[in-house]
Amino acid sequence: MSDVPALKVSAIVKTYHVGTALTNIFKGRKNRHTTLTALAGVDLELRRGEILALVGESGSGKSTLAKILVRSIRPTSGELFYGGRLVPAKRTKDATRRIQIVFQDPYSSLNPRLTVKAMLAELLILHKIVPRREVRAESIRLLNRVGLEESALDAYPSQFSGGQRQRLAIARALAVRPDILIADEPVSALDVSVQATILELLTSLQRELGLSILFIGHNLAVVQHLSQRVAVMYLGRIVEVANTEDLFANPRHPYTRALIESVPRMTERVEDEFVIKGEPPSPLNLPQGCRFHPRCPYAVDACRTTDPPLMHVEDWHESACLRFEELPAFSSVRAR
Ligand SMILES: Nc1ncnc2c1ncn2[C@@H]1O[C@H](COP(=O)(O)OP(=O)(O)OP(=O)(O)O)[C@@H](O)[C@H]1O
Ligand code: SF4
Ligand SMILES: [Mg+2]
Repeated sequence: MSDVPALKVSAIVKTYHVGTALTNIFKGRKNRHTTLTALAGVDLELRRGEILALVGESGSGKSTLAKILVRSIRPTSGELFYGGRLVPAKRTKDATRRIQIVFQDPYSSLNPRLTVKAMLAELLILHKIVPRREVRAESIRLLNRVGLEESALDAYPSQFSGGQRQRLAIARALAVRPDILIADEPVSALDVSVQATILELLTSLQRELGLSILFIGHNLAVVQHLSQRVAVMYLGRIVEVANTEDLFANPRHPYTRALIESVPRMTERVEDEFVIKGEPPSPLNLPQGCRFHPRCPYAVDACRTTDPPLMHVEDWHESACLRFEELPAFSSVRAR
């Protein structure tokens, strides 16, 4: 793997002005909007040819980051680099092609009025991937690559099962020969029996095409099995990032520990998802200091005033916890 990451984001912030705050109006304040902080300064690298998993509770900002990466929304501030190059604000066809996304619900992302043949041809021609006379052969090659038959060419998305539709969505993403694939909960909407086959497909794409994949997921057993590294997100920040093995053996952030402990048993059952105690604070009103302190069993006074950045723990392992060196050994925590 080259040292230059496939994708890098630096200090990405995304805020939304939401609604009209009634209380502000009644109090006669000038600022009638409330600011929701979806991303509060995200730094992250996706290395070439790796599967990096991004995990965190609902509302932590995972999909917002994914949309910024594929540039379907703009960050409020921060920078984005593809292959070491700063991405200009203006979208170019080549930059759009190089990074593709697959969503949780393949049906809503496929045009129901287009046959598979028309859907693939449109992309292959628009991006000049192959000469026109080779479009059909290339479409068949793409379908075969994702485990579908040539006969799928004349069908409409509604004629496929959920798993097959996700395969189609992946074929469509691959059509433009991207370097990077963002998979935003690609198996969450599928039957358990089908999930493993889609995960196998993603692994084979990484291995055989050298794709760099950002896999957003809720299921830690899947993440442990699938990814080489894991980034943990909490309320719009990455709070820990490490090689998968290190992260599960010795998590160095209390939030990561809580996530891992919340899964009853780390099995490969794809239906096990984490649920941790206590509601996360509202992104409309982030806590001062460490954003995890209201739920953290290790919080001390300093945690209420200092907002910790990601800090170097050891090789390839970073944590945004002031007390990462003092946390008890993880096995003893789990045994409690
Ligand atoms: N267009 C929008 N306008 C206002 N708030 C938004 C918008 N999009 C997202 N948010 C808010 O930003 C925060 C992050 O949302 P996001 O969808 O990125 O979370 P997520 O981690 O993907 O959650 P999930 O696991 O449920 O998919 C949430 O509080 C969400 O309500
Ligand atoms: S900085 Fe303090 S509150 Fe935050 S995770 Fe570490 S111990 Fe907990
Ligand atoms: Mg999401």
